[in-house]
Amino acid sequence: MPTTGLFSLRDNLMPRITFILHDGTRHTVDAELGATVMETALKNDIGGIVAECGGSCTCATCLVHVDETWSAIVGKPHAEEDQMLDAAFEVKPTSRLACQIKVTEALDGLIVHTPAYQGR
Ligand code: FES
Repeated sequence: MPTTGLFSLRDNLMPRITFILHDGTRHTVDAELGATVMETALKNDIGGIVAECGGSCTCATCLVHVDETWSAIVGKPHAEEDQMLDAAFEVKPTSRLACQIKVTEALDGLIVHTPAYQGR
């Protein structure tokens, strides 16, 4: 089945995610389908993502602010994630835990911002 959108123009390539750090530094990296945004960040040595729990949604140190242009596509946090976000630092309406965002073709071009500090 053919893909649609920007991803189809770069057939056989991985989706790209841009991380914008608190200091404004931008890192655009390739992401594996099925990986999480957190795993993509760690694999590419993106600063600002700590991920203490390794992706089990229990630490909230993988907080990202999804760019407003992507927020509706990425969607809202699930109940367990939302509970963890309540305890996170610097939460915004578009905040998500990066370990709970799966990379799909629809996220090709995704932009997320990392906070100044990860913690609770
Ligand atoms: Fe711990 Fe995401 S890595 S909540």
